[in-house]
Parts: sequence; C-alpha cells; structure tokens
Amino acid sequence: MTARRQGESPQHILLLGASGVSGLAFVTEHLSIPATDPAKPFLTLYIRASSRSKFTSALPSATTTDIQASKIRIIEGELTDESAVRTAFSANGVFPKVTAVISVLGAYMSLYHFLTRTKPTPIADALKSIVVPTMRAMGVKRILVLSTPSFQVPGENKQMSWGWYLNGMLPVVVLPQGNAEMKGIAHAVMDNSLAKLEQREGLEATVFRVPLLTEGSRELEVRAFVLGGTGNTENKTLSRRSMVRWLLKELDEKEWIGKSPMLCNLVAQ
Ligand SMILES: NC(=O)c1ccc[n+]([C@@H]2O[C@H](COP(=O)([O-])OP(=O)(O)OC[C@H]3O[C@@H](n4cnc5c(N)ncnc54)[C@H](OP(=O)(O)O)[C@@H]3O)[C@@H](O)[C@H]2O)c1
Repeated sequence: MTARRQGESPQHILLLGASGVSGLAFVTEHLSIPATDPAKPFLTLYIRASSRSKFTSALPSATTTDIQASKIRIIEGELTDESAVRTAFSANGVFPKVTAVISVLGAYMSLYHFLTRTKPTPIADALKSIVVPTMRAMGVKRILVLSTPSFQVPGENKQMSWGWYLNGMLPVVVLPQGNAEMKGIAHAVMDNSLAKLEQREGLEATVFRVPLLTEGSRELEVRAFVLGGTGNTENKTLSRRSMVRWLLKELDEKEWIGKSPMLCNLVAQ
C-alpha cells in the first residue's frame, strides 16, 4: 500500500463479508503489512457469530496486546442489528472511529431460489436500512462495495463486446436471486437508473464489479475500467488477493469515487 500523507492518521476499515473467501484474503493481506508500517490500517471485521470459527487459524489470539499489534478486531452481529453495527463503527481505547467501509458481501447460490425464481435481497436491504444510515449518522463517507457486471454504467451496453454482454447476462439467467442481491448491494450506495451514475447523498461510493474470482497470485496486475472503454480487457478473471491490493490502493488514491469500475487481471491464473 502507498504511504498516507504526512500528518494523516491511519485508515480504519470496517470490512463486511470478512468471513467469506475474499474477506479472508483481505485479512491475510492485512496481516502481511508490517506492524511497524505507520500506514497499516486498523481493521474491524464485522461477522455473524456463526462464522467466528473461520478465523481461529487466521488471527492472533484475542489478547489486548495482540489486537494492538495486529490492528484487527472482531465485532459479531447480524447486518440487521443496528446496535452492533454502530459498535463496529465506533472508536474504543485502541481503535479510532471507522474511516471507510469495504463490502465483499455476497449471496450464496441457492437451488431453492433458482427453482422458485424468488429473489429476496437481505444483504442489500440491510445495507440500505441499517449500514448506510449508520454511516451517515457517524459521519463516515467512504464506501466500496463488491458487485457484478450486470450492474451497468449508463451507456456501457452500447460499447461492450459480446463476451462481456454474455458475462453480465449469465447470472441474470442462472442465479436470479444472487444477481438481484449483487445489484441491490450496488444500488444501496449508487443509482444507475438515469442517464448518469450518481452516488447516494453524503457518500463517497465506489461500486467495484468483479468477474470470476480466483485464488491466483496477489502480484497479478489489476486493470480497472468501464466496459467498452479505455483499458478494457477480454480476460474475465480476478484473483482475490490482487483485488485486495487494488482496494487498499484505491482507499489511498481515491481515483474511482462516484464510479463503478470493472476489475480484471490482464491474464488468467
Ligand atoms: N466467486 C466468484 O467467482 C464470484 C463472481 C462474481 C461475484 N461473486 C460474488 O462475490 C461475493 C464474494 O465472493 P467470495 O467467493 O469471496 O465470497 P463468499 O465466500 O461467498 O462469502 C460471502 C460473504 O457474505 C456473507 N453473507 C452472505 N449472506 C449474508 C447475510 N444474509 N448476512 C450477512 N452476511 C452474509 C458471508 O457470511 P457468512 O460467512 O456468515 O456466511 C460471507 O462473509 C460472492 O458472495 C458472490 O456473490 C462471486
């Protein structure tokens, strides 16, 4: 990650979806930043209590000394638990207030929803009704959320290749509920229903769209682009750890605020 400007305090990231494969890749990347690096961000993992066991091997023990050194804390709660969400945003003796939210939340595949064609969106609903209002109340503006190519930037569909068009249509047909959830997550922070893309009031939002996620190398170069625009790749894969590195860079550089880049590696791995 790049150094923060002199005099700026470190970021404090609230990670949603920390217990998923991308979330665990985020934690691994964070643990690899030396504790002596003054730019190492504080990290709060907001997880469901039932997923706590996924962290036993990834994290140091929960002693105060370890938490101070690793700059990681875990807060348990459902996304609908307003009080626990507020605690996750709050400062304590060691952690400053949250400065940015990153969501790698996403729907699981569901045979039931596929067969019944039902499309509940519990994650998107909770983001809209609990998380974003809590951000506003706590004065936190920056949020980056993971979504899919079916969330389109206005005008994009006229320029993109057939390959990307089909890539965006596949989840609509095969995973209708998952697709509705991922689009709903994007809509919680950004509106693309008009001729332009607009952030929700009071937010500095980035909707980063991902193709097939892989376990490839963290060193793979990440290209961020608008479909059909400059830098468009035809490779449709992204390694999770390279995505995490891009997210940490974007937090510092703020290049894609109010935008919705597609992220891809230049080559598949
Ligand atoms: N895999 C791909 O190639 C691909 C491609 C495009 C998009 N996506 C989307 O990107 C997301 C991230 O991918 P991934 O494979 O790294 O993640 P993943 O392992 O599927 O993790 C999903 C995360 O979302 C959380 N979650 C799911 N439903 C929730 C709910 N109702 N309330 C609170 N948390 C909930 C899970 O928490 P728990 O651990 O508590 O269940 C977990 O932390 C996927 O979920 C998928 O929708 C994936």
